Amino acid sequence: MNESTKVNIYTSPKDVSKSVAKKIKKLILNSKQEKFHIAISGGNTPRKLFKRLAKKYADVIPWEQVHFWWGDERCVSPDSDQSNYRMASEALFQKIDIPECNIHRIKGENNPADEAERYAEEMESHISSRKGLPLFDLVLLGLGDDGHTASIFPGQLELFETNNWCAVSSHPESGQKRITLTGKIINNARNIFFVVTGENKAKRISEIMNEVEVSKQYPARYVDPVHGSMIWFIDEEGASGIS
Ligand code: 6PG
Repeated sequence: MNESTKVNIYTSPKDVSKSVAKKIKKLILNSKQEKFHIAISGGNTPRKLFKRLAKKYADVIPWEQVHFWWGDERCVSPDSDQSNYRMASEALFQKIDIPECNIHRIKGENNPADEAERYAEEMESHISSRKGLPLFDLVLLGLGDDGHTASIFPGQLELFETNNWCAVSSHPESGQKRITLTGKIINNARNIFFVVTGENKAKRISEIMNEVEVSKQYPARYVDPVHGSMIWFIDEEGASGIS
């Protein structure tokens, strides 16, 4: 594992969310950029974090400087209970004073291939680049039970090689279409936070951390910032397998 990677372990998912929220606040307040571009993850884990950001930092963070993007989105309408946008909107955006134009949702209701292209164009017109790739200040990632991250699933490792900034993928079990940032974009970020909690993630985490052979199939193993830093925020249950 890259020496610029840190692993922070906390007693509970609540403590994970508190620490991640505090670190995000610090990154935004210390940022030298005019705009802070953050790509957020979906699923269940980040909900606590978004609620914490709203509860603790609604009046502390200069939200007009913060631009929200997604690491991935399900190809569903924004009002679907599957929508990563809807979850973040209910947990955070509806509780803070942030300009609508700062929220760059992936339009899951669009044709997936067209939307992957459109989203890449939107990133190009808003985010400065480094070596020709959009430079996110922070990418938040989760870890699926199968070792996926964003919506890059096992068997789709070519999404860490492609020069496309966004791609259409499919959930291997449900077949649900997803739009995802690709590996090179994720790894170009200044900061990457893996936020993972729960005993059901412990085996995958230990396989990835200990770089055992089987983890070579897990997309999460290939997240490795080229220039930036990475921190794993894990609760004790999730960390139970780390030697
Ligand atoms: C998504 C995610 C996905 C998620 C992991 C973990 O759209 O589902 O972005 O990569 O981070 O599946 O999900 P949980 O937090 O629900 O375990």
